[in-house]
Amino acid sequence: MKILGIETSCDETAAAVVEDGRKLLSNVIVSQIDIHAVYGGVVPEVAARSHIEVINPVINQALTDANCTWDDIDAIAVTYAPGLIGSLLIGMLAARTLAVLHKKPIYPVHHVEAHVYANFLNETAPEFPMLALIVSGGHSQLVLFHNHGNYELIGQTCDDAVGEAFDKVAKIIGLPYPGGPSIGKAALNGNPLAYKLPKAKLAGKYDFSFSGLKTATLRAVQREVGVDFTFPSTQLAERLDDRKRNDFAASFQRTAIETLVDQTEKAFNDYHPKSVVIAGGVAANQELRRILSDRIPLHIDYAPMNLCTDNAAMIASLGFYFSQKNVPADPFELEVEPSISMTKTAWDTTS
Ligand code: KG4
Ligand code: ZN
Repeated sequence: MKILGIETSCDETAAAVVEDGRKLLSNVIVSQIDIHAVYGGVVPEVAARSHIEVINPVINQALTDANCTWDDIDAIAVTYAPGLIGSLLIGMLAARTLAVLHKKPIYPVHHVEAHVYANFLNETAPEFPMLALIVSGGHSQLVLFHNHGNYELIGQTCDDAVGEAFDKVAKIIGLPYPGGPSIGKAALNGNPLAYKLPKAKLAGKYDFSFSGLKTATLRAVQREVGVDFTFPSTQLAERLDDRKRNDFAASFQRTAIETLVDQTEKAFNDYHPKSVVIAGGVAANQELRRILSDRIPLHIDYAPMNLCTDNAAMIASLGFYFSQKNVPADPFELEVEPSISMTKTAWDTTS
């Protein structure tokens, strides 16, 4: 079964064709990173406008790359939640229109859940029960999957997502957007033990918190450059030299990654999953991969880097498994849900 996936929840316009949930036939991503970098973050109105400009060519390219015509496509899977409403609407309206026009079944897919499915595009599929650490710009969660569509949320962030903390700290120390990759790069030349930053202690055994770490980093930078806490954070970066900037990047990254790995290790020891996967943009972080592999006594088959950040292959993959247990949606009725969380979307409790 060949599924066309469509993804526009944030600042990537993406379409992909995947066969039977596992075989990647094409994967087209048009990133708006350069457009938003000048603002230091995603501007929702600009994002929606850019999606409109490229959505049709991106979908056509995905079909061409997969050597498919519409006759070869069995269904469409589209991100319906969560994300920026203006961005979600563009992909959703394109998908609904194409479903009606070409008489194809359409399946709504949850973006955060779909991130996990990048791991099903590896050569070997992860086994259940599967422990997933989902770490993106909007989410930090530990989820135990008993099977496809049957999962429980066992831990989550109490405040900021880890990707958001990477992005905010990068801004404070003067590294370009998106913060994750630029902190990762700067950290390679920094000393991770240069600054001692706190790890949050929380009530929930597998929960996370990153807002305190972000503030502690801000305070440490203010102290380092010799200004008080009222000094504007936007003017700190110019007072840091490259060595200190790299040391802050490395120290922040070490603390954030250790926080993620500590909780994942605890959950691993308590639940004894058969596989551990990581998903979402922060899953592209090399240090996270290295430390997690050191601490978890299982081989972890990491998803390719280009499938960790937003893409439509993961949407098409999850769309396949979802289609095996659910009837298609009505293309005239399907709506976007900008803020529905993953806890409410488990879709198969019979397995
Ligand atoms: O999954 P994603 O592409 O979009 C969301 O659904 O949020 O994740 C984007 C986040 C951003 O916060 C970005 O800074 C972070 O993932 N990110 C990384 C890396 N690449 C992207 N964080 C750490 N290390 C990376 N290499
Ligand atoms: Zn994402």
